[in-house]
Amino acid sequence: SAVTVSAEPPPLAQKERYKVGFSQMESNNPWRIAETKSFHDTAEKCNWDLIATDAAGSAAKQVADVDSMIAQGIDVLFLPPREEKPLIPAVKKAKAAGIPTFLVDRSVDPNSAKAGEDFVAFLGSDFVDQGRRVAEWTIENFKGEKGVIVELEGTTGSSPANDRKKGFDERIAKDPRFTIVASQTGDFARDLGRQVMETLLQAHPDVNIVYAHNDEMAIGAIQALELAGRKPGEDVTIVSIDGTRDALQAISDGKMGVTVESSPFFGPLACDVMKRYAAGEKIEPWVQVKDRIFTKENAADHIAEAY
Ligand code: AHR
Repeated sequence: SAVTVSAEPPPLAQKERYKVGFSQMESNNPWRIAETKSFHDTAEKCNWDLIATDAAGSAAKQVADVDSMIAQGIDVLFLPPREEKPLIPAVKKAKAAGIPTFLVDRSVDPNSAKAGEDFVAFLGSDFVDQGRRVAEWTIENFKGEKGVIVELEGTTGSSPANDRKKGFDERIAKDPRFTIVASQTGDFARDLGRQVMETLLQAHPDVNIVYAHNDEMAIGAIQALELAGRKPGEDVTIVSIDGTRDALQAISDGKMGVTVESSPFFGPLACDVMKRYAAGEKIEPWVQVKDRIFTKENAADHIAEAY
């Protein structure tokens, strides 16, 4: 007999305690560790029995992790999909099992899965806008005559890498002072960012701006530049996204120019949105997080609270 799948995401019953799944994608950087901690901290306050997994950088393992959570009977799933396409089957499987899913911090390909249908909502930042704001800061603050840009991209196929590239590239292209001479993935990782920067520096010794899609790669790039005898903050402008402690320190030390915030502290928002959903409220398809901007003017004030 034909199985009918409802157009709406599964409802969430109102309960004293919830069995909550949080499927983390990797734990190789401070951002991911802070996000996982935020979910653990929230578990106590929000009456969750939390099952948290770590896919160790593999989308295939993340799919398997979600499978195992479904088998363990979670009430609700919080999922940061490592890449836009490979996690779609996991989202659909959770729905078929009657489990409402909230995407957190990263999204999936909108042509293949939809908010208000396959999943309840996406909780997160406007990545296109983050990239655009970095470009605008660069246009306003870069003092040289010609800006020669190396771009270090995030994880290939991930929503922040796609969107941060789009936002930055489109805005910077409108100013003829700037050229992006190379754009290559560093997988959002410090060490790969350093290695890629080392290689790109040999091919493009005239680089004077590095745009990294996250702070970890920006710090890696600073290490590579310093090793090559360059002076980040003086002869190379470093711009990026997140707001980690190391980046705020680098800004306050004058080595980095700007970082647009992308907060990892999703636990409290997840608790709030889930409660609203259980109460029968219609959730907006995109619960948007507003991001601050950290520059020399304010970076030092935020180091203590950073991760
Ligand atoms: O999805 C958000 C991004 O993922 C963060 O900017 C990055 O640091 C993390 O790995």
